[in-house]
Amino acid sequence: MPSQKAIRRFYKPALFLLCVIPALPAIHSLAALVANSFNSSVSELIVSSISFWKFSRSADPIARLLHEQGEWALRFLVITLAVTPVRFITGQAWLLNFRRMLGLFGFTYVLLHFLIWLSLDQGFYWAGIGADIAKRPFITIGVAALLLLIPLAVTSTNKMMRRLGTRWHKLHRLIYLIVPLGVWHFYWLVKKDVTEPLIYAAITAFLLGYRYWRASKRKQAAAIQPTSLH
Ligand code: HEM
Repeated sequence: MPSQKAIRRFYKPALFLLCVIPALPAIHSLAALVANSFNSSVSELIVSSISFWKFSRSADPIARLLHEQGEWALRFLVITLAVTPVRFITGQAWLLNFRRMLGLFGFTYVLLHFLIWLSLDQGFYWAGIGADIAKRPFITIGVAALLLLIPLAVTSTNKMMRRLGTRWHKLHRLIYLIVPLGVWHFYWLVKKDVTEPLIYAAITAFLLGYRYWRASKRKQAAAIQPTSLH
């Protein structure tokens, strides 16, 4: 098990850099969109902001970017959910040091995915955005998951953890709802081959099932503990 110093000085910065890499196309495209927004039309803007990346040569570069960031969002959320079961199965308690960072990356990728949809995909056309959220169920579910993630991100600091006490753990159980919503969103939007969302669904079901099984085992053990020392 690495020391706390090694975790702080090496493992955490290395993991941070690794987690940032898949976000670079989205960050660059959104930054270019903002930077050019003073002197171009919306369509010119969208084209110029994504043209730097290799996927801009694909048939639908905006959809490609949206899909890539959506997949990363789901991957990070599932990985975050996996940290505790993996810690129990392997006995490697030091892995818990990375759970918060992974969760915050999950939130960041959902936010980027949402911002790409809002700007590059919808071109900030508010009437269309409102209609899409209200009328397309997979979008409604995506927005619900994003909204539920906000209180988790806001209360992720040590200070908030101390301030909320046991309520913090209750609030953060929302992740058990958010990840299935993310999977459901993916399942619903896929038109033909549902293999990939079903793989995410199976992994999520296993992770949630494992947590439930462990929690009920702990409860049973507590119930049969002798309450007095006669
Ligand atoms: C927890 C939240 C979310 C997760 C985990 C997530 C994940 C995903 C995934 C995995 C995909 C498909 C990627 C692929 O095809 O390879 C996707 C596509 C998409 N997502 Fe999300 N998403 C979330 C929230 C949102 C939100 C808030 C919006 C917009 C309001 C949104 C809009 C879309 C759209 C428009 C697509 C493409 C749909 C299509 O191809 O027709 N998502 N998302």
